[in-house]
Amino acid sequence: MIRYFTAGESHGEALVGIVEGCPAGVPVSPDQINHQLARRWLGYGRGGRSKFERDQIHIFSGIRFGATMGSPVALRLDNAAFHKDKAAWPEVMAVEGTGEGVDRVTQPRPGHADLVGVQKYRFDDIRPVIERSSARETAMRVACCTVARCLLERLGIRIDSHVIELGGVGYKSAGELRAARDRASREAGGRGISETADENLVRMLDAQLGDDVIERIKQAKSDGDTLGGRYEVVISGVPSGLGSYVQWDRKLDAALAHAIISIQAQKAVEIGDGVDGAALPGSQVHDEIVPGLSRSSNRAGGIEGGVSNGMPIIIRGFMKPIPTLIKPLGSVDLKTGEAMATRYERSDVTSVPAASVVAEAVVAVPLANAVLEKFGGDSLEELLERFPVGGASAGS
Ligand SMILES: Cc1cc2nc3c(=O)[nH]c(=O)nc-3n(C[C@H](O)[C@H](O)[C@H](O)COP(=O)(O)O)c2cc1C
Repeated sequence: MIRYFTAGESHGEALVGIVEGCPAGVPVSPDQINHQLARRWLGYGRGGRSKFERDQIHIFSGIRFGATMGSPVALRLDNAAFHKDKAAWPEVMAVEGTGEGVDRVTQPRPGHADLVGVQKYRFDDIRPVIERSSARETAMRVACCTVARCLLERLGIRIDSHVIELGGVGYKSAGELRAARDRASREAGGRGISETADENLVRMLDAQLGDDVIERIKQAKSDGDTLGGRYEVVISGVPSGLGSYVQWDRKLDAALAHAIISIQAQKAVEIGDGVDGAALPGSQVHDEIVPGLSRSSNRAGGIEGGVSNGMPIIIRGFMKPIPTLIKPLGSVDLKTGEAMATRYERSDVTSVPAASVVAEAVVAVPLANAVLEKFGGDSLEELLERFPVGGASAGS
């Protein structure tokens, strides 16, 4: 089983990660990881940090001559913020010393981890909470999960994503969304959904909708506000039989939902047309079985009973608006106990496009684990001997 851990603070020297359990012989290059890291910075509405962080992965172990060795893969990403502002961050984040003279942060932002963090760990300063709860951590997650993704790619399993709604602007119905997705997979000239989405500033497949979303973001920015939204992850080439209905922790849908909800600010997950389906009669929801034991539609999103059914897996993530706003929100100063209004720090207006890229990455690990559980193998070669040729096709 593949496991990974990340460490590192947002304005510390570096983020580090360890990926354990990847079979040997999987081709992985720094370029593949850097490509995914660059995609994480995409998206209209990002704050100042996206302008100077140029993530370049350093691989220290576990990969030799371009392929995994079965041993742990150790990764490091330097934080440009730390190295750029030498006068500030090395002192604020110093490993040694007493911290005397370093300003304490005492004004918790509603919706962030600030207040629960200081209460839980008994800090008198919010700084340690800000540093680790920050979504900067997702850069290392993307790097770690790309190792699992490289494994899936060798099996013909492909992970795409696109933004489907931002700040209330998006597809009006499941049918409209399905048509846009099908069009993108058909007309993209072999590029795929993600490549088409990456060409749009907000990662939308429909250029007009993308323009409408940008207007919405501009409006929110001038209002001093922030926005959330929804995105869709489409996994194609998945064979049937991954996961299981027999135990709660072996259900594939649960494992994928866990991965997405674990990303900062993701507040809901939908599998297939789960949300709309809850309001419809069963005759309009369930995918009829046709000769060849396929399905006539894919409203279930490729998973029934916690088991992949051979159709593309479709998962939607819902992100709340960013908690750091220019427009002040009510809070309480932890030093004085007095009511106050929050202060603004450099922040994104929206990060839904970036979250969609992170979601693509994080689902790779539970998916790769479901593959390894069913087919096993200590090396890619061994796994390929057992893996069925050709999983599911792309499309709805
Ligand atoms: C890609 C990405 C970028 C984010 N950028 C910011 C940001 O600039 N400012 C901010 O306050 N929160 C940002 N967040 C959200 C916070 O990290 C998150 O709300 C916080 O950690 C509290 O966790 P929770 O929302 O899951 O409760 C971002 C989240 C993601 C996924």
